[in-house]
Amino acid sequence: MTNNAFPEGFLWGGAVAANQVEGGWNVDGKGMSVADIASYKPNIDNTNYAAHWEVSTESIEAAIADQTDKDYPKRRGIDFYHRYKEDLALFAEMGFKTLRLSIAWTRLFPTGEELEPNEAGVAFYENVFKEMERLNIEPIVTLSHYEMPVSLSLKFNGWVDRRVVDDFVRFSNVCFDRFGKYVKYWLTFNEIDSIHRHPFTTAGIIPDKSAEGRYIADVYQALHHQFVASALVTKDAHEKIPGSQVGCMLTKLMTYPLTCAPLDVELTLKKNLENDFYADVQVFGEYPRMIIKDLEKRNLMPEMVEGDKEILKEHTVDFVSFSYYMSMAESADPNAERTPGNTVLGVKNPYLPSTEWGWQIDPKGLKISLIELYDRYNVPLMIVENGMGAVDKIEDGKIHDDYRMEYFTAHFKQMKEAIDEGVDLVGYTSWAPIDLVSAGTSQVSKRYGFIYVDADDEGNGTYDRMRKDSFYWYQKVIQTNGASLAE
Ligand code: BG6
Repeated sequence: MTNNAFPEGFLWGGAVAANQVEGGWNVDGKGMSVADIASYKPNIDNTNYAAHWEVSTESIEAAIADQTDKDYPKRRGIDFYHRYKEDLALFAEMGFKTLRLSIAWTRLFPTGEELEPNEAGVAFYENVFKEMERLNIEPIVTLSHYEMPVSLSLKFNGWVDRRVVDDFVRFSNVCFDRFGKYVKYWLTFNEIDSIHRHPFTTAGIIPDKSAEGRYIADVYQALHHQFVASALVTKDAHEKIPGSQVGCMLTKLMTYPLTCAPLDVELTLKKNLENDFYADVQVFGEYPRMIIKDLEKRNLMPEMVEGDKEILKEHTVDFVSFSYYMSMAESADPNAERTPGNTVLGVKNPYLPSTEWGWQIDPKGLKISLIELYDRYNVPLMIVENGMGAVDKIEDGKIHDDYRMEYFTAHFKQMKEAIDEGVDLVGYTSWAPIDLVSAGTSQVSKRYGFIYVDADDEGNGTYDRMRKDSFYWYQKVIQTNGASLAE
């Protein structure tokens, strides 16, 4: 190992989610998930994310009635369902030590309420994990990544109803029983904090089902149920899979004060504390005092049944994983210029460049996040999403994506600095190693991959895969365990 290399055994790889890659939305007994409801809307307004996810009982029923994939890119994905062997081979060629992927709940339990799993769905993931084992790629599996059964959403208003906890625990236990021999690393809920930003996608919540004035309270109730479910399945994974490691997963939304005016600093502090809330519960096993006070004041404190507090306290996570794409600023000035980020609209930081989608590129913010999270939680960290969406152009049959390599290089250097300063960062999975369907906009043209997929936003194309320049670049980073970054 040279000084420039990352720690031995560092888990380099990539991350995807079932609903954004698999396709095969209606085959082999799969049920419909909340992701199958998201339609593609051209002329996307990046400053109004809420509009992409606006749903009502009526709009969901209309989407279900449309049994085609024409307007629903997540139903198509990138056809990983049929091409997983080819894709895993490409990841192996890049030298991946790990791949983060999720299990579509509806492949195993089409409506979420069946008592026994759909064996065709189980077989698909068994085959994927066997192939990964053969290729020496360690799986990191997310149990819930924006793909709950839409049936649970319509019937129970998703996670607002406590009964969904049991359905999720049953699903998770099938995953542990059937895939535990292949999978050591588990994440419970992807970006659990996103429930406030897109409650339907994250927790199946349909606004028109809430009683007058109780919508926000319902969101906190659903979040509480997810916290409890996360703790319960952490317990089950630990009991069933020797040596298993379970992590929480957060959207790290680093916020800076726009100026050093004390009010800007106070507002920023509050934003950052709110962002910490979710890992606080999952790592420390209890709601933070300031959050309790705030929820009580606003009459939003969720109902907790007997035993909940003990469950949260006893079954905390082993590590913290998070996504990091961008940072933003905060200001007391209501007229401060704003820019979109990962499902947020933040105050624009004048010191940072942005991607074509307006997300502010901030490698130093990643280092600051790593230091802050490690200092606060004192458990190993994993970066399980990081990357930039960009428009890629094919020139002479190739894709020269220097911008992507620059983005990653700058972030990797900051990771190395953080490690050298003492942060226990054990793994990194880029989002995403292959072009896929965007969670936020349902575009394929917002490309993230080292591997190009020949598909457009309307589903035209051969879906053939092609290596971009960054493919070879990442291959070298992994081969040298990061030492090539210093060249
Ligand atoms: C993360 C999600 O928030 O951001 C991913 O976990 C998502 O599912 C990623 O794809 C990038 O966001 P987008 O909207 O560009 O796909």
